Amino acid sequence: MSVLERMTSKDAIALEKKYGAHNYHPLPVVLSRGEGVFVWDVEGKKYYDFLSAYSAINQGHCHPKIVGALISQAQNLTLTSRAFYNDMLGKYEKYASETFGFDKLLPMNTGAEAVETALKICRKWAYEKKGITENEAQIVVCENNFHGRTTTIISFSNDPVARKNFGPFTDGFIKIEYNNLKALQEALESDANIAGFLVEPIQGEAGVYVPSDGYLTGAKELCKKHNVLFIADEVQTGIARTGKMLAVDHENVKPDILILGKALSGGVYPVSAVLANDDIMGVIRPGNHGSTFGGNPIAAAVVMVALEVVKEENLAQNAQELGELFREEMNKFIATCNIVTKVRGKGLLNAILINDTEDSSTAWDICMALKENGLLAKPTHGNIIRFAPPLVMNKEQLLDCVSIITKTLVEYEK
Ligand SMILES: Cc1ncc(COP(=O)(O)O)c(C=O)c1O
Repeated sequence: MSVLERMTSKDAIALEKKYGAHNYHPLPVVLSRGEGVFVWDVEGKKYYDFLSAYSAINQGHCHPKIVGALISQAQNLTLTSRAFYNDMLGKYEKYASETFGFDKLLPMNTGAEAVETALKICRKWAYEKKGITENEAQIVVCENNFHGRTTTIISFSNDPVARKNFGPFTDGFIKIEYNNLKALQEALESDANIAGFLVEPIQGEAGVYVPSDGYLTGAKELCKKHNVLFIADEVQTGIARTGKMLAVDHENVKPDILILGKALSGGVYPVSAVLANDDIMGVIRPGNHGSTFGGNPIAAAVVMVALEVVKEENLAQNAQELGELFREEMNKFIATCNIVTKVRGKGLLNAILINDTEDSSTAWDICMALKENGLLAKPTHGNIIRFAPPLVMNKEQLLDCVSIITKTLVEYEK
């Protein structure tokens, strides 16, 4: 059998089960093609993608411009490492820094790596600029955070499944309640060694928790007052997902350190980045940090075009408008049903809360039924289903999706 030969869903799942580590529990659908808001399984069935690879496919599957940039750069130069310069990285750093309004960018590959990078920059800044005694710096994080899977990052997670038997953990983190400015104030007032506050502007993985209006503004002000870096993890919320280029833009808050990933490349290539101004990024010097693939010319070319697509196609505005329509339609449905208790979100990052116990399989069962009905979504923590379609969706498609979702949910009425 040729390695590229097509196979049935059943065979593909069996292969992953036998030869792949079981670190995920996917819905049993095997995809082999994607275009815009649609994906097709190996048997040819078409689905709306209502997850977008956890918000990485904001620009739609296989966007021709982005794929074009990937192919043409791949035919020229793929990787130099940072041992040498390449002719794309500087252009990308300038383009992205100007797009997001920072002096400098540090290129990495995955979201977790970018979070690690931000934590390292923050600690180094604390010792070299703020004057905290070495090894004493603390970073404040929020309960129910999700910032990735590395050992340091899970050290400040409170998800038992993510942590169990992975210790010992990294010190230097203080956990406070999300969306609680008083808790942040108390933490900042009680410890002079605090270097940074790491926060998701909306907690995506935890179930799309949108903080109260003014939370981000208040947090930034508190950080400023205490000379603490406000670090925004926009890996999931960034790149137009919530109806603005960044979720912090809803409150006109400028982070001291910005973390991006996922849709930075339109989901075409693993790329992440950390952005900051010179007074902060300047603490990083040769040998302090790096990655063989970080800043490679393919990533650089792909990101510039992926960001161009977001701007040219007004994806932020589309996400804003369609998100409002989605919640409006879902709220109409919720008024008539008892299977869903709530819809919440911003732009096209939304979730519905299923009316059942946390440990029931109802959300999973509904996602299985949605799959049968031609729409792919996945439960997140508890009985919550996250809905995050590509931002290139149009109104007619969105209403079609609402109709699939509500018809499916009706079957689960109690
Ligand atoms: C807010 C946030 N930060 C970091 C990450 C980690 O990104 P990656 O899976 O690319 O390491 C994620 C992934 O879902 C995320 O949602």
